[in-house]
This record gives sequence, structure tokens and C-alpha cells, in this order.
Amino acid sequence: MKAIQVLDKAFVPFITASEIDRKIQEIADRINKAYSDKNPLFIAVLNGSFMFASDLFKKITIPAQISFIKLASYKGTTSTGNVITAIGLDESLKDRHIILLEDIIDTGKTLSEFLPQLWNQAPASLKIAALLTKPEALRHEVHADYTGFEIENRFVLGYGLDYDGYGRNLPELYQLKP
Ligand code: IMP
Ligand code: MG
Repeated sequence: MKAIQVLDKAFVPFITASEIDRKIQEIADRINKAYSDKNPLFIAVLNGSFMFASDLFKKITIPAQISFIKLASYKGTTSTGNVITAIGLDESLKDRHIILLEDIIDTGKTLSEFLPQLWNQAPASLKIAALLTKPEALRHEVHADYTGFEIENRFVLGYGLDYDGYGRNLPELYQLKP
């Protein structure tokens, strides 16, 4: 792994593919144990989580389903600001054990606005698995139940995460060059 250039920015190697794989196996082991009789429904938030979701789901050995959603943010007409809508959420969540898959929790804004909509559908439980969290950047009450890596507040790229649409295909994680 060496430094790379994406558009106008330089990125340096951060977390290797094998470290990611090891961490995802740990998360999968925990989920396989905790949900063995719960028939969980994974909900992966696109685009960023597609690699994480794919690699994690391959390591799930219990009966489970997965669905993919995209979150769209609209300027609300009320004072509450943006309205988040989920595209592609066709399954009923009622009485299901939901595990939401996110690439990264940064400020927590997106999930803090979206999670109430999921709770509205009366799931039996709702947990969050995030590959990455940036504790210093967190501004909203969102807590990941399963976290891959807690990282410092610096922009990261690769393994599904993008800079202006590029870099998602990198099998490892890079960090903006200091
Ligand atoms: P939040 O609402 O501030 O938590 O933002 C979360 C979303 O912003 C993530 O799902 C990512 O799509 C994007 N994001 C936040 N930090 C990064 C980063 O370091 N690299 C790439 N995307 C990021
Ligand atoms: Mg995302």
C-alpha cells in the first residue's frame, strides 16, 4: 500500500484489507451468537456500506435476511429542516430484529433523523453496526452497538467510502494526508 492521489487530494494508507477482514469477522461472530434464534433483518445503507455489508453478510451463518436502502434528504417546509426518506425499504419491520449497517457515523446527523422512522414501524429490536465511528465528530445522540474501528476526526476513503464519488473500489482504507 502506498500513498494515492484522488482528484485534488492525497491519501495515505490507514487500515489494511486483512485488518478490516479480521474486525468484520469479530462483529459477525458476535452477531451470530446474539441472533442465533432471532432471524435478523440486516438493512444496509447505500452507497457507502455496500462492501461492509457484503463482507459481513458472507460471515453470517445463522438464518438472516438483508435489504438495501438509500437515504434521500429533502429540504422540509417546516422549521424542523431536512426530511430523510428511505428508498427501497419494502419489508415490514414489525416485530423483526433489525441490524442497520452503516459505513461510518460521523456527526450522527443522518441516523439521528432516520432512526425514529424505523422505530415507528415497531421492530422487536434495532441495533446499529458501523464499520467506522468518529467519536470526536459526533454531534447527535447516535450509538453504534457494533463498531469496527473508532477513528480520529479525519476524512477517510476506500472500502466503499468515497471522495466525490471516487475511491469506493479500494479494498483497504486510506486517510487524508495530514
Ligand atoms: P453523518 O450524518 O454526519 O453521521 O454522516 C454520515 C455520512 O457521511 C456517512 O454515511 C458517509 O457517507 C459520509 N461520511 C462521513 N465521514 C466520511 C469520511 O471520512 N469519508 C467518506 N464519507 C464520509
Ligand atoms: Mg453512508
